[in-house]
Amino acid sequence: MESLSYLNKYLVKYKWRLILGSIFITASNYFGVEMPFIVRDSINLFAEKVLSLKGKALSELDKTEVLESAIYLALFYVAFSLLRGFFVFLNRQTIIIMSRLIEYDLKNEIYSHYQKLTPAFYKKNNTGDLMNRISEDVSKVRMYLGPAIMYSINLFVLSILVIYYMVSVNLELTLYALTPLPFMTIMIYYISRLMNKRSEEVQNQQSVISTFVQESFSGIRVVKAYNMQKSLSASFMNEANEYKSRSMKLATINALFFPVIVLLIGVSTVLTIYIGGIKVDEGVITNGDIALFVIYVNMLTWPFASIGWVTSMVQRAAASQKRINEFLEQEPDIYSKEDAVPMKGGDIVFDDVSFVYPDSGIKALQNISFVLPEGKTLGIIGETGSGKTTIANMIARLYDVDNGQIKIGDSPIENINLNELRAAIGYVPQDAFLFSDSISNNIKFGLSDIGENSNELMEQAAKDAHIYDNIVEFDKGFETVVGERGITLSGGQKQRVSIARAIIKQPDVLVFDDCLSAVDTETEDIILRNLKRIMKGKTSVIISHRISSLEHADLIIVMNEGKIIEQGSHDELMNQNGYYTSLNEKQKG
Ligand SMILES: Nc1ncnc2c1ncn2[C@@H]1O[C@H](COP(=O)(O)OP(=O)(O)OP(=O)(O)O)[C@@H](O)[C@H]1O
Ligand SMILES: [Mg+2]
Repeated sequence: MESLSYLNKYLVKYKWRLILGSIFITASNYFGVEMPFIVRDSINLFAEKVLSLKGKALSELDKTEVLESAIYLALFYVAFSLLRGFFVFLNRQTIIIMSRLIEYDLKNEIYSHYQKLTPAFYKKNNTGDLMNRISEDVSKVRMYLGPAIMYSINLFVLSILVIYYMVSVNLELTLYALTPLPFMTIMIYYISRLMNKRSEEVQNQQSVISTFVQESFSGIRVVKAYNMQKSLSASFMNEANEYKSRSMKLATINALFFPVIVLLIGVSTVLTIYIGGIKVDEGVITNGDIALFVIYVNMLTWPFASIGWVTSMVQRAAASQKRINEFLEQEPDIYSKEDAVPMKGGDIVFDDVSFVYPDSGIKALQNISFVLPEGKTLGIIGETGSGKTTIANMIARLYDVDNGQIKIGDSPIENINLNELRAAIGYVPQDAFLFSDSISNNIKFGLSDIGENSNELMEQAAKDAHIYDNIVEFDKGFETVVGERGITLSGGQKQRVSIARAIIKQPDVLVFDDCLSAVDTETEDIILRNLKRIMKGKTSVIISHRISSLEHADLIIVMNEGKIIEQGSHDELMNQNGYYTSLNEKQKG
């Protein structure tokens, strides 16, 4: 329950809607509880004027009186119904809309918080979990903000009015009529809880099925290549059977909901009529009063049933909000300090840097020291898993060092304004990731603002990344959509689009993580020549398994198991006759 107090700030923000909604609820209920009085008066009129005749004819005078009263009562009834409906409409317009507005705010809050969190957080929590909290958990919270709050206010106002009116007619009859209602509330509470539990089980199975289907279709090529269709179909059938049996269990408990309500209302109605009848005989109440009570009890049915329903809804919302809060309370461990200095550029210096990945405990870097002078190129080569990407991650400050220090210019990297640092770096990651969007939007993603000349910039970047000719050959050119719903680019084409995305913003520092691995040596040559021109006077880092990609670098470091084993220029390394030399011999034959 405590977790829900997080939402109070939003309730305060939308307090006027809440207050207005409560006023509308009161108004609709006022007209609602007045209506049964009209019914009572009609019945009493009929009983008095018509039933008492016992077969004798009605006098002309009484006839017109009865007719007039009947019309008068009917008009009132219609008018009250309309007014009641009107206020119900207004109340839903305010409170349900308030819940939608808060849902919107909350989703935005969670999403922008997600954006601040670091890769370490994303390693620890899986994507499905992140998605669930922003979608399903938020919807459950919305059920608390909308329906739960609305029904609670409604119950409160209605029961006060109805019970007040009932007691003013007859206290004893009121007690008899209301006794079954608390039992109904308790039973509905347990039924709702069971319903929720079972519907969660259904949902869980649903997501098992979705994941299963999604995996088998995104991996369809592997499935077909290994001829696994039959066995996958069998597995699917198993999962679908489980889904079926869980759904049937849910259906059984759902089927109980309304019968329980009808049963207890029936009990209440029978009691009212029986006890009421005795009281009419005693002359304590009128015939019409019985009708009044029966209608009132029916009016209270849903509100009382909703206590049970709302309670379990609130419990679920509280659990969901707790999950949401867990993530909202996570502070990003990498952020700009308040007195951060601007990014000025300069030499990139690693001074005895060591780093252990927090989640895996793998010692990825040990005592790394080098100086990359401003405007020069650093090449990093080494076996797979030797820590090359980790160095690139450190330069972009995706992680903070454990020991030692990284400096850019004179400032330790932690002191530099994070946004400026990231803006100054063009990072082409090892796994070229493209969004399911047009090529144009994928390349322009690198621009902080899309100006008038963005198309020229994009075309130039595509030319420099040597992908322009490929793109214009597509029917829709730069507007070609890639990814899930579009065309599939080859590995090398993807890499080149992601290079274009990095160079379009003309960054001060460029980091290429093994991003020419999937292109042939000829294309590699062309791209490297273009890069040389673009990167003139700018700092760059080229990570590769191929010596041809980085032999022209000013400084090359050779990595092995997180340590630098050799460093120097190509010629210096060749003279050392070590790992680099033997690698060169292997690669150049
Ligand atoms: N996000 C991560 N969380 C935990 N451990 C990681 C993470 N990324 C890399 N590692 C581990 O750190 C070590 C260094 O990885 P790194 O990615 O820097 O290697 P690499 O030299 O880039 O390899 P490759 O040539 O295959 O790209 C590896 O043992 C790897 O398993
Ligand atoms: Mg790597």
